[in-house]
Amino acid sequence: MLTILDNPLVQRDITVLRDKSTPPSRFRDAMQRVAIALALESARFVYTRTLRVETPLEETEGHEIAHDIVLLPVLRAGMSLVQAFSLLMPEARIGYIGLQRDEETLATQEYYCSIPPLHPDSLVFLLDPMLATGGSVRFALQRLEQRGAHRIVVISVIAAPEGIQHIEQFYPHIHIVVSALDRCLNEHGFIMPGLGDAGDRYHGTL
Ligand code: PRP
Repeated sequence: MLTILDNPLVQRDITVLRDKSTPPSRFRDAMQRVAIALALESARFVYTRTLRVETPLEETEGHEIAHDIVLLPVLRAGMSLVQAFSLLMPEARIGYIGLQRDEETLATQEYYCSIPPLHPDSLVFLLDPMLATGGSVRFALQRLEQRGAHRIVVISVIAAPEGIQHIEQFYPHIHIVVSALDRCLNEHGFIMPGLGDAGDRYHGTL
């Protein structure tokens, strides 16, 4: 199930991200605003339970998060989404998975994995701003399944239709939230029109 954000501020910021003349400082700021919008949209997957709270005037009903939340950014580019998600979901625990695409074969290579112990009710937000072939997200989903994850939501900034189809083929019931769905992949596996390499542009390592 795919959700595409429909928000004029996000569309403005996606344009800033796409622009090849945008420097890393401005790229990070725009990414942060898009990440906040993605985190707010993702809040609909979070369940709360009621509790009583005392205001200075009287007791009333309140809400608290009813389950464990885990953020799993795919290094490196996924780091661009962590701050916004952890700001809006301060209860979340954070893991990391380091994946790199082989530039020739586009195959996914894992170089780091630190996933906190998951509970049966853990809700995992898998954070990777680029969903190109879908190889990285699929690899991370397999890892999460091995660790016992039952509820996973994939969060991306820009996705290619090929990547979405790839994930939906293997995980037909998974929720994917993106801020833009682009036209296609090119012969090098880059999203078109895309924004280039999000990891490099965010970290200023072009
Ligand atoms: C990029 C991007 C995604 C992945 C998407 O990572 O940040 O993680 O490729 O491609 P896929 O859907 O075809 O797997 P990259 O290998 O450039 O690493 P980086 O984040 O460290 O820049």
